[in-house]
Amino acid sequence: MTVTEPKSLNIGVEKTAHSRLGEKDFTQLPFGSVFSDHMFVVNYADGQWQNPRIMPFGDVSMSPSISAIHYGQSIFEGMKAYRDKAGRVNIFRIKDHLVRLNRSAERLCMPQIPEDVFTEGLKQLVALDQNWVPTTAGSALYLRPIFFATDTQIGVRPSSTYALYIITNPANAFYTQPVKVWVESNFARASEGGVGYVKTAGNYARSMLASQQAKELGFDVVLWLDAQSRRFVEEFSTMNAFFVMDDFVVTPRLNSTILAGITRDSIITLLKDEGITVFERDISIEEVMQAGREGQMKEVFGSGTAAVVMPVASITYEGQTLQLQDSRSWKLMNHVSQKLAGIRAGELPDTYGWLTYLD
Ligand SMILES: Cc1ncc(COP(=O)(O)O)c(C=O)c1O
Repeated sequence: MTVTEPKSLNIGVEKTAHSRLGEKDFTQLPFGSVFSDHMFVVNYADGQWQNPRIMPFGDVSMSPSISAIHYGQSIFEGMKAYRDKAGRVNIFRIKDHLVRLNRSAERLCMPQIPEDVFTEGLKQLVALDQNWVPTTAGSALYLRPIFFATDTQIGVRPSSTYALYIITNPANAFYTQPVKVWVESNFARASEGGVGYVKTAGNYARSMLASQQAKELGFDVVLWLDAQSRRFVEEFSTMNAFFVMDDFVVTPRLNSTILAGITRDSIITLLKDEGITVFERDISIEEVMQAGREGQMKEVFGSGTAAVVMPVASITYEGQTLQLQDSRSWKLMNHVSQKLAGIRAGELPDTYGWLTYLD
């Protein structure tokens, strides 16, 4: 075990004595199951962020009384580091992910994470484990910050202590076959005034039963409707939704029930850049089905960090199914996904300053 001198932010680094890198087959990387050698950890106590450190990835021991487990003060992010064509490693939209993490923290009465703690911790971690960033086109190192309450006293109130971890896992290009979508009109994922826009564990727990039932019926993903009227499209369980009509694009407007996807924002920016009209507005499921019936609905896809885009094969709502055309011929979805890939590979200019290079 080597302990190196802390850098600018006094991040202590304890390197693993035994790298697992050589043991892993990078052609076989089931998403989310292989973790790199190290993790970043920082604690919050007495009103201060304390002891930022990088240490070997491994189990942590904690009391079964920690409040995150009982009362759900637990939030996270999902982001990616890419290796560009020249072999340099960049991280995609760090600042925007931190802004969203801090927005989640604010809603759940958790402290704000300072930019230098997050960014330095993340950059130093990825730099240390940069050999874990895969080299094949489209693959990436998935970065998972998790932030949770650690008070060890039972009682419903904001914790006074917290831990932030960042773990990373190499992931191959995530090719999604076009998915069969089930429009959920019984369960609701989020309601106005709640925490739908927060990237918190409970939102995912809440969506699981509907997803499980949809799978049993032969569907791949759930499309959520608003909790109040069950008329308006919100998002998929882990992705935002895009509808390409004849000559414009619609995506549900952001509100307190939808996660503000960073990929969603990137796609809107790139489409608008090219003069394509993108409406961020309410879109009812009747409008979607009708546009399908009338032949106007050209492409429907999900957007998210893991897969980037997820083409939809069909949408089933209350006994009716809208069948989409073969997604290989879709112009807009394929264009934006290639454009994003080009930016991250350093082949296209990073006009919006989305990439942070490690060196
Ligand atoms: C509920 C939900 N909506 C949307 C997204 C897409 O967000 P992003 O593009 O930032 O990954 C995700 C994934 O993070 C998600 O979990």
